Amino acid sequence: MCGIFAYLNYLTPKSRLEVLDLLVTGLKRLEYRGYDSTGVAIDSPDNKNIVMVKRTGKVKVLEEAIQEHFSAGDYSEPVMTHIGIAHTRWATHGVPCERNSHPHRSDDGNGFVVVHNGIITNYNDVKTFLAKRGYEFESDTDTEVFAKLVHHLWKTHPTYSFRELVEQAILQVEGAFAIAVKSKHFPGECVASRRSSPLLVGIKTKTRLATDHIPILYGKADDKKLGPDQEIRPHGQSRELPVLPRSESTSEFMPLEEKEVEYFFASDASAVIEHTNRVIYLEDDDVAAVRDGTLSIHRLKKSLDDPHAREITTLKMEIQQIMKGNYDYFMQKEIFEQPDSVVNTMRGRVRFDGNAIVLGGIKEYIPEIKRCRRLMLIGCGTSYHSAVATRQLLEELTELPVMVELASDFLDRNTPIFRDDVCFFISQSGETADTLMALRYCKQRGALIVGITNTVGSSICRESHCGVHINAGPEIGVASTKAYTSQFISLVMFALVMSEDRLSLQQRRLEILQALSKLADQIRAVLKLDSKVQELAKDLYQHKSLLIMGRGYNFATCLEGALKVKELTYMHSEGIMAGELKHGPLALVDDSMPVLMIVLRDPVYVKCMNALQQVTSRKGCPIIICEEGDEETQAFSSRHLEIPRTVDCLQGILTVIPMQLLSYHIAVLRGCDVDCPRNLAKSVTVE
Ligand code: M6R
Repeated sequence: MCGIFAYLNYLTPKSRLEVLDLLVTGLKRLEYRGYDSTGVAIDSPDNKNIVMVKRTGKVKVLEEAIQEHFSAGDYSEPVMTHIGIAHTRWATHGVPCERNSHPHRSDDGNGFVVVHNGIITNYNDVKTFLAKRGYEFESDTDTEVFAKLVHHLWKTHPTYSFRELVEQAILQVEGAFAIAVKSKHFPGECVASRRSSPLLVGIKTKTRLATDHIPILYGKADDKKLGPDQEIRPHGQSRELPVLPRSESTSEFMPLEEKEVEYFFASDASAVIEHTNRVIYLEDDDVAAVRDGTLSIHRLKKSLDDPHAREITTLKMEIQQIMKGNYDYFMQKEIFEQPDSVVNTMRGRVRFDGNAIVLGGIKEYIPEIKRCRRLMLIGCGTSYHSAVATRQLLEELTELPVMVELASDFLDRNTPIFRDDVCFFISQSGETADTLMALRYCKQRGALIVGITNTVGSSICRESHCGVHINAGPEIGVASTKAYTSQFISLVMFALVMSEDRLSLQQRRLEILQALSKLADQIRAVLKLDSKVQELAKDLYQHKSLLIMGRGYNFATCLEGALKVKELTYMHSEGIMAGELKHGPLALVDDSMPVLMIVLRDPVYVKCMNALQQVTSRKGCPIIICEEGDEETQAFSSRHLEIPRTVDCLQGILTVIPMQLLSYHIAVLRGCDVDCPRNLAKSVTVE
């Protein structure tokens, strides 16, 4: 939700036009996180002011506005040191419009400008406090209070450093956020922080860095919060905002001192990889400050298990992975990457010759997992569907009770969790707020936490006890595709590991392993259906609804297919458990209702055929996904898609691909923005 990008060059000459170009490119990489409106802030040519440009809509619109607004001349003069901040928004407070776009400012003079991701939950209290002190608000956002709060602190505590002002402001706000702040009163400096929303710092130097660790400097502040007004002015006395003691971390310690250096603050690695592969993932409540080219990381309080330093990690990502290449859309590229991404998920883990599987990230925890009371699989959206898809196999191969849960509902119910539960948190981004909250809830109750994520260094990754990285590669399209098939395979591999020593399950394991070895080629075969799927999309795209029916191992494909259709095409779609047809949904079926049915030769084939007959005898004309050469099933419809035969528990990987392609083609035919569906964002970091 929302993309933050900031760029600071220190003793590295860059013109403002170059800086703007960098900011816009950074925003383009982060656009999938939100695309309602955008904005940038840079220094004016005389360095006395901050200039902002904001636009409603996507980064392209901002780019055009920048080209119009900043002619060459003064803006093409190189500057040795400069900081620019930028933002692409997914609206939470206030409709998408220029007034609500970031950066937000502290005052008419643009003294402090802020970009923010997340929600400041106590913004109304802060707003009331500031309004009583004469501040007027120009937007409907929660973010604006932060800029004005820093300004208020600056006026009342003129000796404070920029970093200290931001620290004090952070102490007064609640909620989840990542922020980056720029100020005309502190030129060439940037302060950034995060709490439950991702933020990293990329570092680019000419020579290799002298250190791989940035020491953390600790303060001694206690954790007072801004209260309602009567607490701020007790007994009618005038009392200022409770400002905490200055932290001790104002030391002259120079943690990362480089002569010529460039820093990038970004919501995720895709925005920095073309500049540097050296990054620090900030932790909650870290405050990263750059002053005189020196980066330091501060925390207000030290707790017992806090480390002494933040590590600089080297990204393994390649720039090509985040480019569209010859494809029209990222989603299309990601669908077609699946023959490779599934292999990458298994690489180094599955040995087909020895029928062995090793999951290095959870190996040491397997004995503990085997002793558990139950397995819980928790996620949202597509990630949740991967849990639904593999539940049956997990029950079969682990012989444990397996619960699958939507993270938001799980939290609403205050679900009982025990020390001997093992809880899996499945998330492509590793940052989904509902999933992260559910993780923390289970961790507090003593459960073992296993992360299944695609994003190295993400919050879920870092807060899990152990986990499996699905290695699908960066997924940029908002609609999740290759992450789903890789999550699916990761959970299948886990089931295989858990059943390694069960003699009675060896034949079944072998069958699955052999099927896994053929999967990449079979996915390639399914992808060849693309033009046939496109033709079917032409029949469907003008309809209002699509019902998708199946059962057993393919019910998850129905849910996932319907989600893809909804989010990409804005058509209504519903995934229906075929066994439930006669309990209600059958009433929807007639000769005009589009229906798609998955009918494969597996243990529920006969039941699926019953459902098919129930549909056709009500004049329904379903599209059928069936096995290659299955003439008996094909006889029920002139429109069918044939997929290769595989073991029952892996069918879902092959049946979901036509659904991905179908939703993609319908979206294109309906003129929808495939990679950026309306109202959505890739990484949902708000609850
Ligand atoms: O990053 P996550 O896997 O945690 O995201 C969960 C959902 O928001 C996500 O799968 C969403 O449903 C997709 N846009 C569906 O295509």
